[in-house]
Amino acid sequence: MIDMLVRLYDLPDATDLYGKVAASGVTLRRARAFEKHTVAAFTKANFSEKWVSEVEVAMTRQPISCFIATRDKEILGFACYETTRRGFFGPTGVSEKARGLGLGKALLFKALEGLRDIGYAYAIIGGVGPKEFYAKNCGAIEIPGSDPGTYIDLLP
Ligand SMILES: CC(C)(COP(=O)(O)OP(=O)(O)OC[C@H]1O[C@@H](n2cnc3c(N)ncnc32)[C@H](O)[C@@H]1OP(=O)(O)O)[C@@H](O)C(=O)NCCC(=O)NCCS
Repeated sequence: MIDMLVRLYDLPDATDLYGKVAASGVTLRRARAFEKHTVAAFTKANFSEKWVSEVEVAMTRQPISCFIATRDKEILGFACYETTRRGFFGPTGVSEKARGLGLGKALLFKALEGLRDIGYAYAIIGGVGPKEFYAKNCGAIEIPGSDPGTYIDLLP
């Protein structure tokens, strides 16, 4: 899986996107330390153990480098940054029932803004699955020669 590069210095303004998400009753915010077990359980139930490990790293940072989308006390999606490597975006995921509502894009922008605000000019999306999602939503381009990149000698 290839890595992708995103320019952070000209990220589009996401105010309208956040407004639409808020109008649908969804809250976007950083996860909090005392929610680590809840975010980990969501990630395990919907995604993978490896992503649980990365989420747990994000949950130890200050500020916590994991954003969540919630509604009615339920997590619908998450997005992390600076877990496996500095400057990396991910992992991220939206529960199947909440896809297609703009939450994945909104969480992506929250996390990219988090990277921008700590000084990065570029973000790296590590080991990309849905390349078209990133190309379309944040202008990400593939990094030549980055497959398998940093994801080598993987333990189960
Ligand atoms: C990828 C993922 C986070 C997208 O979440 P989502 O909430 O469904 O996405 P959004 O509703 O915010 O989509 C925003 C836009 O991207 C488009 N889009 C969504 N998924 C896409 C995909 N896989 N490929 C191309 N475009 C996609 C949508 O059609 C939408 O376009 P529009 O603005 O023109 O309507 C979600 O499908 C997911 O959790 N996938 C499994 C986990 C995963 O692959 N994570 C990424 C690992 S690198």
